[in-house]
Amino acid sequence: MSSDTPPITNETPPGPSGLPIVGTRLAFLRDPFGFMTRTAREYGDIAYMEEPHGSMYQLNHPDYIEHVLVKNNQNYVKGDIFQGTLSPMTGNGILNSEGAVWRRNRHLIQPAFHPRRIEAYAEMMTELTEELLDTWQDGETRLIHEDMMTLTLKIVARALFGVNIDEHVEPIAESLEEFMEATESLANMVLPPSIPTPSRRRIRDARKKLDTVVYQLIEERRANPGDQDVLSTLLEVTDDDGNGMTNEQIRDEVVTLLLAGHETTALSLTLTMYVLGEHPKVERKLVAELDGVLDGRTPTMEDLSELPYTEQIAKESMRLYPPVPGIIREPVKPDIVGGYEIPAGSTVQMNQWVVHRDPRWYDDPLAFRPERWTDEFEQSLPKLAYFPFAAGPRRCIGDRFAMLEARLLLATIYQQYHMELTPETELDLMATVTARPKSEISMTIHHRGD
Ligand code: HEM
Repeated sequence: MSSDTPPITNETPPGPSGLPIVGTRLAFLRDPFGFMTRTAREYGDIAYMEEPHGSMYQLNHPDYIEHVLVKNNQNYVKGDIFQGTLSPMTGNGILNSEGAVWRRNRHLIQPAFHPRRIEAYAEMMTELTEELLDTWQDGETRLIHEDMMTLTLKIVARALFGVNIDEHVEPIAESLEEFMEATESLANMVLPPSIPTPSRRRIRDARKKLDTVVYQLIEERRANPGDQDVLSTLLEVTDDDGNGMTNEQIRDEVVTLLLAGHETTALSLTLTMYVLGEHPKVERKLVAELDGVLDGRTPTMEDLSELPYTEQIAKESMRLYPPVPGIIREPVKPDIVGGYEIPAGSTVQMNQWVVHRDPRWYDDPLAFRPERWTDEFEQSLPKLAYFPFAAGPRRCIGDRFAMLEARLLLATIYQQYHMELTPETELDLMATVTARPKSEISMTIHHRGD
């Protein structure tokens, strides 16, 4: 399974047929999760389809995914679709840059995500969560995703900028939201980048609004250096030639981290709360663990090793509802995967959503069962049967940050509140860059002990 191995067949893999121009995109947009799941179940471990931008290969076997993301990763780039979607907002940040620029900047940013640096954020995470919980009223109904979006934005912003930026949270949140909504446009997918579609104009305006805030924060920090935050690291680092990062490069990385580290973590929490609302027994077991270990104390970094069930819940939730439901790559040179030739420039799609629900790896895959995450089970899984944070050199830089946040926030919230789904709440997710709910998740909250 490499570019040196000849293909076993010269045919294209089987797959769903599409319409002229839009290919299979309309079928995908109508029912994205159903479409990608049916494609895997009907056509097997590699499926072929025509998309508006060309050929697409959906890989459904963990070994094929490991080949692309890890073993032969040097032959793959994120590609034009990914670039076209993200770069209008993130510029040349590490989420979408490639080659030497990506390598240099990933290397420069990595120290800010060192495990010891991440641990230093624990207290800030629980403090901001308790601040939110102080505003909650027993018996009220909350829009949970809205709450989690605000909270995780405050957390990632505090980690980035080191200071309270509450006054800027609203314009940042609005700009990121407008951008994420505009990325869903089919017109942008079909029309060349030179055509100023309404959504492209919205992205440009959102970027302007965000840049005003971010450049101001960069300037303020240059004038008053800090020590424990990501922005300070970015301002200090130099490469092997002694060159530091320019304001524009720092802007691209800051916006990238805001975008990548905000909605994803909010989703992981919202979706966990939703699924806990559906599984009261799991919630009760979680609360028993929290009461036993914390006895009402605010959870700390040190407590986490004593909270294995909390971690199992976070893992199982990201299996069933991966916040990033699928990722794409583009081969630079032709490759052979599963006995088929994948031409250079085509798109390879790998869906966490599909693989995480494959009955070959997960017994009763649609069941939410945190107990399945034993050490033995993890060791028995094919490496890439679970990849919420991707894998290989382009693996999520914020994975530890996100897991820390998920566990601490769940522990802080659930030891204080029991949360109940309202009868009208239905989970219907979009499959864009992230799996965001189409409508609000509302939950009635009950203070424990009242
Ligand atoms: C539950 C939360 C999160 C999930 C599920 C998640 C998932 C992912 C995935 C799947 C990728 C790979 C994307 C691709 O290959 O196209 C990625 C990349 C990335 N993530 Fe995360 N992420 C999360 C949280 C975070 C946080 C908290 C940060 C930073 C504060 C972050 C920053 C990044 C960056 C910068 C990249 C690009 C890395 C590179 O290409 O070198 N993410 N994330």
